[in-house]
Order: sequence, then C-alpha cells, then structure tokens
Amino acid sequence: MASWRIRDFHEDDLDLVLPLWGDPSTTGAAVAFGLSEIIGAIRAGQPALVAVAGIEVVGSAVAMIDGDHAWIMRISLANSWRKQGIGSALLEALESSLVTRGVRRISCLFTETEEVGAAALDHRGFNVRDGLLLYEKVESVATSDINILKEVGGRMLGPGLWEELGGMIREKELIERRVILPLANAHLADRVGLFPPRGIMLFGPPGTGKTTFAKGVASRLGWPFVELFPSRLAGESSTGLAKALRDTFSLVGELDQVVVFIDEVEEIASAREQRTLSASHGVTNEMLKLIPSFREKDCRLLVCATNSVRAIDTAFLRHGRFDYVIPVGPPDAEARRAIWLRYLSSIPNEDLDLEEIVSGSSLFTPADIEFAARRTAQAVFEQALLDQGAELATTELVLGCIRDTRPTLSAQIIHEFEQDIDDYARV
Ligand SMILES: Nc1ncnc2c1ncn2[C@@H]1O[C@H](COP(=O)(O)OP(=O)(O)OP(=O)(O)O)[C@@H](O)[C@H]1O
Ligand SMILES: [Mg+2]
Repeated sequence: MASWRIRDFHEDDLDLVLPLWGDPSTTGAAVAFGLSEIIGAIRAGQPALVAVAGIEVVGSAVAMIDGDHAWIMRISLANSWRKQGIGSALLEALESSLVTRGVRRISCLFTETEEVGAAALDHRGFNVRDGLLLYEKVESVATSDINILKEVGGRMLGPGLWEELGGMIREKELIERRVILPLANAHLADRVGLFPPRGIMLFGPPGTGKTTFAKGVASRLGWPFVELFPSRLAGESSTGLAKALRDTFSLVGELDQVVVFIDEVEEIASAREQRTLSASHGVTNEMLKLIPSFREKDCRLLVCATNSVRAIDTAFLRHGRFDYVIPVGPPDAEARRAIWLRYLSSIPNEDLDLEEIVSGSSLFTPADIEFAARRTAQAVFEQALLDQGAELATTELVLGCIRDTRPTLSAQIIHEFEQDIDDYARV
C-alpha cells in the first residue's frame, strides 16, 4: 500500500485540493458550504488538513469553529485513495486540532449519497441526529451586491407588500400589467418584442401610496430596493449633489437587479422657472444623463415619484426616459373600503357600519385612513385602560376619529390632479 501522511494545509495546496473539492463524487459534506466559504475559512485561519502521498494531495478536511461548536465544512478523498483509512485519519487529526482549540461539539451535514465522510464519521463515533430537517433559502442577492446595497442604503423588502396594498385596483392592475409582469416574464416579453420598462414616474397628491407602490413592485419582483433622498445625498452645493448622484448611480449600476426609488423627484428635476439651489440646471442635466445608462442593463427599474408633476422639467418626463407616467390617485369608495378593512381588522370592533365610515372619509388618502385607524386604536386603548370601558371600537368612535383627522384632499387638489392626468399621464 502506498504511504500517505496528514499535515496542515498550506496556501500552496489550494491548486491541488481544488480538483478534490470540485468533483462532487469525491466530495464529502457538500450541501452546507460553498467553495468560496471554504477558501475564506482557510484564509481566516480555520483548521484545515490535507492527506498527501508523495507530492500528490489525496484528501482534505476543513472545519469552521464558532465558540465551542465546530462545523466540518468538507471532507474529501481522491477516488483511488478510498478505503485506506485516510478519511478516518483526517477526521481524527481534525478532531484533535478542534479539541485543543476549545471545541466540544462537532457537526457535519451531508447529502444522503455521500459515502466518503459518512464512513469516516461512523468510524469516529459520530451519531446521526434524528428528526433534523434541512431548511434552505437561496436569497436573490449576490454577496458582492450586499456590499453595494449597504453602501447605498438599499435592502430586500421581503414578500407580501404588494398584496398588502388595499384597494387601488385600477392602479394595481395598471402597474401589474405594464411594469411587474413584463419585468418578471422578461423572456416572453423579449420574444414578442416588448421592451420591459426601465423607468416609471408616479404622480399624485401626498399620501396616496406612491412610495408604498414602489416598495410593492420591488417586493413582487424580489429585487432589492434602493431609495435615494436627494436632500440627503449632498451638502450645500449643487455640484456636490450632481456628483453624489453620479457616484450613487454608478454603484447601483453594478447590482444584478434593483428597483431604485427617488421620492419628491421635482427637487432634482424641476422645470426651469421653479429651480432652487438643489434643483439647479446642473443637477437636472446630470439626471438626464444618468437615466440612459441606467436603462441599458436588464433587471433594473427606476421609479420616481412626485406630488407635483407640473413642476417637473418636460425634458425629464419625455418618453425614452420614463416609459410610463402613472397617476396614483385618491382612493375611490371601493379602495377606501378595502383600506379601512385592512386597518380596522386588527382592532376589536362591534359590527361596524363600513358604508358610513367609507362615505365619512371621502377626502381621505390611504395615509389619512391609516392615521384615523391609529387614532381609533388609541381611543379603544384609553377607553379600556383609563375608563375601564370595553376593548371594542364602535362606528361612532371611528366616525369621531375621522372627524378629528384633517383630510389631505380637497376639491381643489382633486381638480388639479385630474387636470394633471389629462396633461401628463402616459399609460
Ligand atoms: N393602498 C394602500 N393600502 C393600505 N395602506 C396604504 C395604501 N397606500 C398607502 N398606504 C399607507 O399610507 C401611508 C402613506 O403612503 P405613501 O407614503 O406610500 O404615500 P405617498 O404617495 O408616497 O406620499 P408622499 O406623496 O407624501 O410621499 C403609508 O403608511 C402606507 O402604508
Ligand atoms: Mg412618498
């Protein structure tokens, strides 16, 4: 039998070990750790051993210590060197190195078909733990993207936000058809010559749900959400802001997938006569330049929102920069009903007269409804705690809270919004 021995892993061994790790048939613990994690662990000084025969590396074992617990990341053996006790010897040496480093519990995760490590683990007295299930989730953000997201303040929003949007059926259906579905089914869109949107502008009165819609889109697509706040991007000067925008867009451009959201975009893209320091000509021009390159790559969507679409530079709005200019309007009765239901559902109540509540809040935005519902919960809370009353909301109580909430909308605002739809909407 050819002779072999076990020694610590050296940096130079990497090239020789990689073929062992790369071939699934020679790989032990294959499910839990990827190659880059293993290499990262070795470089970070975690225990790693190799079995060598002459100049040949014929096996390896790598572990990762966390306090007094260690995971065996991988045990591998070259096929022709099996059944010679090398696996057990590797494991024994690894165990003793772990124990001297304070480890008391050693775990290892295998696929059922792996035999290399299983035989060795068996031999070394490891027990199979019954009743364990492996739960796994592949996050859609690559590791390199996580660093960029950190830098630009982006995040994954998690599922379900789109579904939580109450009512607003017209807006939801429009955005779903024009925006979400083509982006989510890009191959079909491509086959039929539909270029998925890369930029949309949402406009409407305050609190109608523009930001909420943008987040809902990111949630539905499962793409990270990056919100840019022009007012926070730069200090005093407009050149500073232009540069900050350029830098941020260049970082964001490296992400695999992203929804970029800019709220109150009129701040950086206002029409000439309305320009302020922050929305100087230079900043608007910078944005106009940045959008085309942002649009070049797949899997990205720029969502801008404004309360004042008429204040925006018309060059900014033009087709080719924004594919759709979408009104997000005041909720109609049906939408208000759905939104009320959503917010009242967590407040114990006696058969509320929803129709009265809906018609009593006709100039309410979703944000107003949310606030009035919060007021209602507060009133029930005080009634129960301070007045020893019932933990129950009545229609009268809700209507009182509606009366105490100032509506955002007015006939004038609605009229202007309808005018804006005629002048600017493009759906
Ligand atoms: N359709 C909806 N269903 C339930 N809640 C909603 C809905 N739309 C908005 N809201 C709630 O109303 C609040 C305001 O919404 P949002 O911030 O999205 O409005 P906005 O149009 O972006 O406002 P602004 O113009 O002030 O930026 C949020 O707390 C949101 O959760
Ligand atoms: Mg908003």
